[in-house]
Amino acid sequence: MNDVHAAPATRGKILIDDVVKVYDPGGAAVMAVDHCNLEIEAGEICMIVGPSGCGKTTLLNAIAGFHDITSGRILMDGETLCSAEKPKAAPGPDRIVVFQNGALFPWRTNLENVIFGPVMQGKLTVADARDKGRAMMADAGLAGVEHNFPGEVSSGMRRRVEIVRALMNEPNVLLLDEPYRALDSLTKSVMHESLLEIYYKNRVTIFFITHDLEEAIFLGHRVAIMTTRPCRPKKVLTVDIPHPRDYGVLTSKRFRELIEETSEAVHEEARKAFDAGEKEG
Ligand SMILES: Nc1ncnc2c1ncn2[C@@H]1O[C@H](COP(=O)(O)OP(=O)(O)O)[C@@H](O)[C@H]1O
Ligand SMILES: [Mg+2]
Repeated sequence: MNDVHAAPATRGKILIDDVVKVYDPGGAAVMAVDHCNLEIEAGEICMIVGPSGCGKTTLLNAIAGFHDITSGRILMDGETLCSAEKPKAAPGPDRIVVFQNGALFPWRTNLENVIFGPVMQGKLTVADARDKGRAMMADAGLAGVEHNFPGEVSSGMRRRVEIVRALMNEPNVLLLDEPYRALDSLTKSVMHESLLEIYYKNRVTIFFITHDLEEAIFLGHRVAIMTTRPCRPKKVLTVDIPHPRDYGVLTSKRFRELIEETSEAVHEEARKAFDAGEKEG
């Protein structure tokens, strides 16, 4: 990993070891994740691509500690987050989820949203949090909208505010579940560059779910293409395009080659999911 701004991350290595998740094991038994193995390096951007309903969010929820697992284990930096003995990880500010539909408080200004976590947890005084929040917002291209409410800025800006809010907690891992799904493609392209700029200044591990292969290859160090439900990696691609990246990458020969190498695997799983009538969970 080529560092341009910040020191490499030393925390946030995630090991997903033989994880199985069956919903309602006593009843209808929906197997969402099946013997899934994946290792994500500290500071890596690992993209998870798979069809709707395959079990991506289930996996993210297990890492975040929102749901238990049925068997296997998940470790962070060698410490067990969850396992057979303790099937549900404890949620914590070391692993922060950025939700698909956004979760900013509409009645707080952007800056108030950004400082909320560390102030609530007593990690920073309001004054220190404001200083840090302002600096991080400026770094993320959000200078000037600190005192606006989320509803007063563009959706692209709101997404950035959310990422800054998450990073204010100094997490080891950012968990993103299709964060740009609702955005139009032009806004999305700006968001991708902006996410990378923020990432270059704040190295964290990023676990990023999408079903957009171009998004996955543009952003990721690696792309895990998941099988249709129950999910596990079908193919893990290392994106050998150096960081820092900008939108020029999209028209490069290597980018197109990587899309070609992987699109068949993605399409095959999407087809299976479609034929099985999978709906997103
Ligand atoms: N709480 C739940 N109870 C039962 N089944 C669920 C629950 N959450 C998700 N599922 C099922 O598990 C499968 C995987 O869901 P999910 O992980 O949300 O998929 P994805 O995020 O890849 O679209 C789907 O078939 C979904 O219906
Ligand atoms: Mg999902």
